[in-house]
Amino acid sequence: MIPVNLSTARLELSAPTSADVDAIFEICQDPDVQRWTTVPSPYRREHAIGFVERVVAPRWEDGTEATWALRLDDELIGMISLLAVEDGKGELGYWMSPRFRRQGLLHEACRAAIDFGFASDGLGLQRIGWRALGGNVGSASVARSLGFRFEGAVRLGARAKDGTRVDEWIAGILSTDDRTPVVWQVLPS
Ligand SMILES: CC(C)(COP(=O)(O)OP(=O)(O)OC[C@H]1O[C@@H](n2cnc3c(N)ncnc32)[C@H](O)[C@@H]1OP(=O)(O)O)[C@@H](O)C(=O)NCCC(=O)NCCS
Repeated sequence: MIPVNLSTARLELSAPTSADVDAIFEICQDPDVQRWTTVPSPYRREHAIGFVERVVAPRWEDGTEATWALRLDDELIGMISLLAVEDGKGELGYWMSPRFRRQGLLHEACRAAIDFGFASDGLGLQRIGWRALGGNVGSASVARSLGFRFEGAVRLGARAKDGTRVDEWIAGILSTDDRTPVVWQVLPS
């Protein structure tokens, strides 16, 4: 698949390229990105190079992953992926630069990515899943705000960066779901 660009009210979304390596490297030093996502830790510049060259580009091409850099006035401020795309389902993942959090920008961008994921002229998905290490209230709040339904805590279902096993929170949204946020029992209502 050829990478598809998306636009929202405030953002442009397009595939990250080698011109974005420095920005990705810098944001991935953030302790919360390292703690809560699967990025390598410590995160070195070659990880950012490998990400754009050996993950983003080939997976757009083979249709298994759609990754967008979120750009505000040409500055890279975050990343969204629809990954593990297969047989009508995919999974949403994201991180934001600490400087641009809590402004609803990620929510805005994820809505566009989800619309593309479900669209018949997009990825044509029926289900988009979400997963996080248990306790990642920020990520869960974003997913809840997008209309994802909480589907449970898989006991010791994930491995934290320190090697310990921890619960994994899982959620999902279907193409037919009403996207009005619902109660998640692990979040304050
Ligand atoms: C989680 C993360 C992506 C949220 O980004 P963000 O830019 O703050 O998200 P938004 O501003 O679009 O927020 C969307 C919603 O989530 C809520 N939210 C975001 N972070 C929150 C937090 N830490 N606690 C409670 N609510 C939070 C917002 O209030 C908003 O809710 P609303 O629509 O009801 O107002 C960001 O904190 C981050 O990059 N964290 C580290 C990486 C990470 O955890 N990635 C996910 C791995 S599963």
